[in-house]
Amino acid sequence: MKALRTHAVGGPETLTLDDIADPVAGKGEVVVAVKACSINFPDTLMIRDMYQFKPQRPYAPGGEFAGVIESVGEGVSGWKAGDRVIAMTGHGGLAEKVAVETGRLFPLPDGVSFEVGASLLMTYATTIYGLQDRGHLKAGDTLLVLGAAGGVGLSGIELGKAMGARVVAAVSSEVKAQVAREAGADEVVIYGRPPFDKDQARSLTEAFKAACGADGANVVYDIVGGEYSEAALRAIAWEGRFLVVGFPAGIAKLPLNLTLLKSCDVCGVFWGGFIARDPAANAAHVAELFRLLADGKIAPRVSETFPLERGGDAIAKLANREAVGKLVVTMG
Ligand SMILES: NC(=O)c1ccc[n+]([C@@H]2O[C@H](COP(=O)([O-])OP(=O)(O)OC[C@H]3O[C@@H](n4cnc5c(N)ncnc54)[C@H](OP(=O)(O)O)[C@@H]3O)[C@@H](O)[C@H]2O)c1
Repeated sequence: MKALRTHAVGGPETLTLDDIADPVAGKGEVVVAVKACSINFPDTLMIRDMYQFKPQRPYAPGGEFAGVIESVGEGVSGWKAGDRVIAMTGHGGLAEKVAVETGRLFPLPDGVSFEVGASLLMTYATTIYGLQDRGHLKAGDTLLVLGAAGGVGLSGIELGKAMGARVVAAVSSEVKAQVAREAGADEVVIYGRPPFDKDQARSLTEAFKAACGADGANVVYDIVGGEYSEAALRAIAWEGRFLVVGFPAGIAKLPLNLTLLKSCDVCGVFWGGFIARDPAANAAHVAELFRLLADGKIAPRVSETFPLERGGDAIAKLANREAVGKLVVTMG
């Protein structure tokens, strides 16, 4: 089978399309024939050894994929060859076949495409955990979503709307603003690109405050970090929740006096850690996501698909801030 693998630390251009032996399902595992593997920001970091998890090389990146079970190993019950599944493995998905522990599988409902199935969990399941469990978002709240036209960002807009919030989306271009509006954002802020001088930082804060309204944002969903974070924190509401989700623009430092002035909380959101500690709660979230998908309340936007040999181009596009919605690598 073919797999797009990293052999040494580097960018997407260092990945090679290798012919390797088919995997065999071990005890408690199934082999999944991958149909679609979505690209997520961690894929851009992992191959450069900049992510918290560093798998042993050589390995294929691609942490989230959908496909069909081809064979089952010893001791597996509840799954059979031919079942359509979604798998969350952290890496390995940019390959034609992957051996997966059954605990990492979810059934892919009939009628949901492999591309959409592969685009659902890392983004929307992170966000439902973030907004619901960490942010306590409720109907009528104002939610500010940064990086709102990316994979996690769009899930923030859609789930925020589904939960009854007024959603302010912040993005870096008019093209991304249009995508955010189509996803349901009530208000859009187009921000510049750092570094910001004092005046630019102040006007970014003013833009966030103007869009969020006099009371500010009850919840800030920060998937961007860098210099954007402090400006967003300055626009938070009294007793608001600032959710720390990701750092494509760099790890932010926040002046703690701002949290005192607003009596607000800064809350970390680590979905992988949450799944490991409470898989049942995550499974309940995933069931809720499938209900919202069936009701048309959420709809992952797959903006572009790539063949396996061009998986590196998909990773490069995401890393270069050029992606809108989800980029997906499809097999065969
Ligand atoms: N905490 C968790 O459990 C968890 C789970 C999943 C993902 N994440 C994190 O969430 C973040 C978003 O992931 P994603 O898959 O949605 O990525 P994505 O689709 O690439 O979206 C990231 C967005 O960040 C913005 N951005 C700002 N500065 C950037 C820069 N220098 N380079 C690239 N993008 C930049 C871009 O929007 P603008 O151009 O509009 O600013 C982009 O759309 C990542 O940091 C990821 O690691 C965290």
